[in-house]
Amino acid sequence: MMETPFAKALINGLNKSQKTLEPKFFYDAEGSRLFEEITQLDAYYPTRTELSILETQADEIAAFLGPGVVLVEPGAGAPTKAEKLLAAMKSPMAYAPGDISIDHLERAMSPLRLRFPQLRIAPFRLDFDDAFDLPNDVAALGPVAIFFPGSTIGNFSPEGARRLLRRFSRIDNAQTLLIGVDLKKDKTRLEHAYDDPEGVTAAFNLNLLARANRELATDFDLSSFRHFARYDESLGRVEMHLESVRDQTVNVLGKPIHFLEGESIHTENSYKFKVSDFQAMAAEAGWSPVKVWTDPDNLFAELAFSKLSL
Ligand code: AVJ
Repeated sequence: MMETPFAKALINGLNKSQKTLEPKFFYDAEGSRLFEEITQLDAYYPTRTELSILETQADEIAAFLGPGVVLVEPGAGAPTKAEKLLAAMKSPMAYAPGDISIDHLERAMSPLRLRFPQLRIAPFRLDFDDAFDLPNDVAALGPVAIFFPGSTIGNFSPEGARRLLRRFSRIDNAQTLLIGVDLKKDKTRLEHAYDDPEGVTAAFNLNLLARANRELATDFDLSSFRHFARYDESLGRVEMHLESVRDQTVNVLGKPIHFLEGESIHTENSYKFKVSDFQAMAAEAGWSPVKVWTDPDNLFAELAFSKLSL
């Protein structure tokens, strides 16, 4: 059978007592399309809220970043948010978006290349599980500002998040960090954002099983699994699961995997933060808090840090 990273992760994750699958496998072509659809939903407030913060505070944020900066965006996907910054920044030296799918990234850069014909745009392949290498010499072009929007940091465990922030601080020439985080809020609102009435998030979650059927010839019956999302207030995270609606056995790469009725595959954690808690965590990872911008309803925050000099 195929020894792809997805195949390995599937076998590994489904053999645990709490079955799991990492969220990075959401983003095949279909999953990326579904995620774009999620960002347009009424229930899913983070994307539009962050965009409105970046838009209304663009001048202050650009002033914080400073002139002649290299903007590095790990886990970029689409450059929609970076575009707001680049439009406001004074003579940015380069934009380096990193993503797991470099093809997708290259295609997504076309509108940006049209809008900023002078800007050096240097996409690079990045998997958070591996070491990251910035594209050739971009770090030498100017001070590096790391832009990490979308509350992508929320997918990491607290230890994982601290480790990632520490790795950011070690990127060549890194000086500042601008990071978007989703804030703690009432349970109903959070659960609604991860279980929209249109069913797009359910389709996004179930696409993991559809992807396995497509790529690995597993035989998941998608109608036998149900998407659910719940906010665990004590852990400060929304969990997404795929719950088996009946006892069943699925053939996964030649091995039978048994599911009890009500047993789930844990597919994602999306941590929510309190600004001061996040700042404390970042400080432990080498970043000193400088400024915070939020929306009027305090749904989302854009946090600015500068590198602690040791
Ligand atoms: C891309 C990780 C920020 O956690 O809100 C959206 C992914 N999952 N709806 C998030 C997601 C379900 C999203 N992040």
